[in-house]
Amino acid sequence: MKEIKAAEWKANPFTAIGKEWMLITATKDGVTNTMTASWGGMGVMWGSDVVYVFIRQSRYTKEFIEGSDSFSLTFFPESQRKNMAYIGSTSGRDEDKIAKTGLHVVMDGDTPYFEEAHTAVLCTKWSKHPIKMDDMPEDVRERWYGDGDWHDMYIGRIEKILVKE
Ligand SMILES: Cc1cc2nc3c(=O)[nH]c(=O)nc-3n(C[C@H](O)[C@H](O)[C@H](O)COP(=O)(O)O)c2cc1C
Repeated sequence: MKEIKAAEWKANPFTAIGKEWMLITATKDGVTNTMTASWGGMGVMWGSDVVYVFIRQSRYTKEFIEGSDSFSLTFFPESQRKNMAYIGSTSGRDEDKIAKTGLHVVMDGDTPYFEEAHTAVLCTKWSKHPIKMDDMPEDVRERWYGDGDWHDMYIGRIEKILVKE
């Protein structure tokens, strides 16, 4: 893969994240877990290029992000859609999702990403922000948090963007 600068990244976040989805992946104590996400963003914060991801309390991947200093976002060709749907509907607590999909983990230092991705965004975990129930409209709270499984927002400082040549 070839490294590009954030300013050269052609992705439209509304389609890349919202429609095509991404995997959020982290490694803790030598074990890697991943989940599908379609909420999040990319932008600029504290003078750096960053991504924002939103992870519910119940996700096993959260434990890996908490236990690591970094994580990646990976974006895939349409041919991986079925695997992404599976990774987004099964927990790594119950199955070895990565083995089942046949995806291959590549490590860049301590940060995992997938060989099959067309784009990998490698991030330092920079900060964590609980999404507070009190601060949101009631209809949002009822629609998305009826079960109390709230999101934490993590800001990742982009260290490297790799794209398939
Ligand atoms: C299309 C799609 C988008 C998703 N987006 C998110 C998201 O942005 N945040 C989140 O916490 N869960 C999201 N999920 C749910 C997780 O991917 C799912 O619960 C997954 O099984 C968690 O796996 P884990 O327990 O191994 O971490 C999404 C699932 C799908 C299928």
